[in-house]
Order: sequence, then C-alpha cells, then structure tokens
Amino acid sequence: MALYSEKVMDHFRNPRNVGIIENADGIGEVGNPVCGDIMKIYLKIDNDIITDVKFETFGCGSAIASSSMASELIKGRPLSEALKLTNKAVTEALDGLPAHKLHCSVLAEEAIKKAVKDYYDNNGIEYDHSLFPACEDCAHCGEMA
Ligand code: FES
Repeated sequence: MALYSEKVMDHFRNPRNVGIIENADGIGEVGNPVCGDIMKIYLKIDNDIITDVKFETFGCGSAIASSSMASELIKGRPLSEALKLTNKAVTEALDGLPAHKLHCSVLAEEAIKKAVKDYYDNNGIEYDHSLFPACEDCAHCGEMA
C-alpha cells in the first residue's frame, strides 16, 4: 500500500488556498520545534463566518496537505465549527496519514485555533478560554497552560 493516500498527494501537489490575506481579521502562526516546520493561517471573518482563508506552510508535504485540507474544511463555516476542527478530522478527510506524520495535522488544528483567538483578541470579543488549551503564549489569561 502506498505510504500516502491519493488525497494527501492531491492536496500536496495542488494545495488549495495558498497565500496571504491582506488585512486578515485573524492570523495564527504555529511551529513544531522538533521538525522546524511553520504554518501560518489567515482568516477573513464576517459575522462569525469564515469568508476566506489562506495559508503559508513552510514544511513537509503532510503539513502542506493538512493545511490545504483544513482550509477547505473551514471555508464558509462558522467560527464555532472551525474551533471544533480536530487534527483527527483533518487526517480522516485526507484518508489518513502515516503515524509518524500525524503531528503535521496537529499544526493545522492549532494554527486555526490561534487565528480565531487572534480575531477575538483584536476585536475585544469575550470567549471561553478553555477553548484554547494549546495556546502557550497568551498574554491575556493566566488560566491557560
Ligand atoms: Fe513537521 Fe510535517 S514533518 S509538520
């Protein structure tokens, strides 16, 4: 069996939504210190709906495929749904990733959460801080790990 599914190869070769959004409403950047890969997600948000999403990923093919798939999964969706997107859902939508590449899909989940949080912070919108447990650099809330 091939190591990578056809969907992974498709999203790696033809990634959707690559680029940046000028004047994005929320930006989330995450990196994996072990592999050194970096992912940046830009969101345009209107009335709690993600009207546009773009990403820049400097990383492996699985990270590029994960960002591409994740961007497709949240585009046009409400923020509440984007916040529920798990790396498992991204992996399933890609018809799986090899075990040693699962961490690449985690980057996509974290970058999206961080971008939504950035939007909330920029606009002074109250939110449930427990939604962002992975955020280590929050300057606003001492409750988060
Ligand atoms: Fe680091 Fe894929 S190897 S994100």
